[in-house]
Amino acid sequence: MPNKRSLGEMLVSANRGRTVQIDADKVSRGNFFTTDAAWLNQPVREFLSFAFLNQTSAGQVASVLDPFAGDGHLLDLIAGEYGIRVHGLDISNDLWPKNDSLKQVPNSEKSVIVTNPPYLANHSAKRKGVNSLVASYFKQGYDNLWKLALDRCLASADYVVAILPETFLLSTFAKDRLAVISVIEGELFDDTDAPALVACFGPAGVEGAGNVFINERLIGTLSQIMSCRGKGGRRGKPAVFNVADGRIGLRAVDGADGKTPIVFMLAEDFDYPANRIKVSSRLMTYIELPTLADQDLPGFVVRANKLLNEIREQSHDLVLAPFKGNMKTGRRRRRLDYELAREIISRSLS
Ligand SMILES: C[S@@+](CC[C@H](N)C(=O)[O-])C[C@H]1O[C@@H](n2cnc3c(N)ncnc32)[C@H](O)[C@@H]1O
Repeated sequence: MPNKRSLGEMLVSANRGRTVQIDADKVSRGNFFTTDAAWLNQPVREFLSFAFLNQTSAGQVASVLDPFAGDGHLLDLIAGEYGIRVHGLDISNDLWPKNDSLKQVPNSEKSVIVTNPPYLANHSAKRKGVNSLVASYFKQGYDNLWKLALDRCLASADYVVAILPETFLLSTFAKDRLAVISVIEGELFDDTDAPALVACFGPAGVEGAGNVFINERLIGTLSQIMSCRGKGGRRGKPAVFNVADGRIGLRAVDGADGKTPIVFMLAEDFDYPANRIKVSSRLMTYIELPTLADQDLPGFVVRANKLLNEIREQSHDLVLAPFKGNMKTGRRRRRLDYELAREIISRSLS
């Protein structure tokens, strides 16, 4: 394989050196438009009405800015619904004044920001051969463009409504200004099925309730939901992951068929080839529990699965990362990260 790939030459198989050509501009700009209106649901509407009211009572004219406006789908919807002034910016679209909103979002009118920023992870930019177009943004210490975009928006507006990847929930991005989240179950975009949510932020210094909805159904506050994760099982070292002859098997991802959910099991009941386990295995693995005698393993498996399923139910699955679309049943597939797996293990041991 040649060492240097050309622009937009995406690496498909490192072993075989296989690549395919992708649209470098589209990928580096995150050009995936929000063509479905499901994001403007009741909780988001209530938040926007509250934001507009605060604007007008502060003597401003209610208005909305999308600094990553694309074809203007979000702005059209807001203008139609609220009849207020809307305006946009974009780096590569003649519909709007040109602006690099990943550098700065000018907002002299103090408009409410409503946006769907570009999503692109640093490692994806490298794999997809578009790193040269976006490397300067990542130099600022961000691992995904949406995080930089959101920081720029929050720096220039008191009220921000952003359509973000669902991974925002488990990310370390500061959530102190968060007022409302609505996880969207349907598909919002025209040509990607990335799981998404709408996050609504209020002014700095005013702590929001952090209420979390699935579509329009209130689930609880973010801190209540995240408390299901516990402390990440960091006490002691109850489990060693990715041990080929470990006595416990873990399928850490829901199967696409809807019949093979995440589960702990005895190694002898797991049909995954042990010789495929690597230090980097994250989906299927074997685990060793040094403090547990053989005869205690079956009881442990029962307790761990019971706790796992309680956590899934209580958090409505939101403490697990989304994984590659939905199961045949329509439920979103999820992945159990090893930090939460460790927490489940240590609670099931005691
Ligand atoms: C995910 S699309 C969203 C478009 C629109 N908000 C929507 O939801 O349909 C992201 C948009 O951000 C624009 N964009 C990407 N990088 C930008 C930058 N540095 N500054 C301003 N706009 C940018 C892209 O051109 C694209 O139109």
